[in-house]
Amino acid sequence: RIVYVNGSYVPEADAKISVFDRGFLFADGVYEVTAVLSGKLVDFGGHMKRLRRSLDELALSSPADDEALLAIHRELVSRNGIEEGLVYMQITRGAAERDFAYPSGPVPASLVLFTQAKPLRDTSAARTGIAVATVPDLRWKRRDIKTVQLLYPSMAKMEAKAKGAGDAWMVDEEGFVTEGTSNNAYIVTAEGVVVTRHLSNDILHGITRAAVVRIAEETGMRIEIRPFSVEEALRAREAFVTSASAFVMPVISIDGTAIGEAKPGEFTLRLREAYIAEAD
Ligand code: PDD
Repeated sequence: RIVYVNGSYVPEADAKISVFDRGFLFADGVYEVTAVLSGKLVDFGGHMKRLRRSLDELALSSPADDEALLAIHRELVSRNGIEEGLVYMQITRGAAERDFAYPSGPVPASLVLFTQAKPLRDTSAARTGIAVATVPDLRWKRRDIKTVQLLYPSMAKMEAKAKGAGDAWMVDEEGFVTEGTSNNAYIVTAEGVVVTRHLSNDILHGITRAAVVRIAEETGMRIEIRPFSVEEALRAREAFVTSASAFVMPVISIDGTAIGEAKPGEFTLRLREAYIAEAD
């Protein structure tokens, strides 16, 4: 695989980053994951807008403008022959003597990109749906910034796997679901209302979420943008999650309790199909 690191396209075995990189030492960096369908990037503009916001929040200066980043994305997709999969991009504050304060002098940010070829459209998880297990949301309080600080989501996913589930749904102190480890969470109530949490610092502002909320509105679905509790979710007729890598993924059980008929629901499948049709 050819990867991109600070200006060069190199075989992955030759890519080098300093041990002093602040991404490595402090998780001082941000990232984006963009899907590739039929060889084309899905909603690149949306990902760039969120990237700029994440960079601004951390006073991190970008090593390249949107046009240059698009060119690197396209070059990597082409060099690695990606028809379907993901492009991962990471920007960190660069290498400096270890110090909690940001470096005072001008330090070039590190820019790393790589591709992952993988089926997104036709997956067994999408056909059967996934089980989720709830865990307390122990992350920091700026979950709206897409930082590379992903240890708690990894721990949560491991805890879910130990319980035989495919992913975790993280829950705030009041018992409301925030989001999945790397996706936004939704339910469909018995009355057929799609419910997903409002945007705030409590969740990542998903690019897929924005598209799916818009599609639900455009296709005449009833939608409520508000928090939902685990208790309400257990009584839902459907549940699903969205992300650049999962698109719209059915959730068929929560903590071992079947949701609806424990198979992908009709609203979920309609949204998945419409999202993919639009992205493709
Ligand atoms: N994760 N919430 C969290 C915590 C996420 O990490 C992600 C994305 C999402 C969905 O955002 P989007 O629709 O823009 O992908 C929500 C990516 C895919 C990842 O970490 O691999």
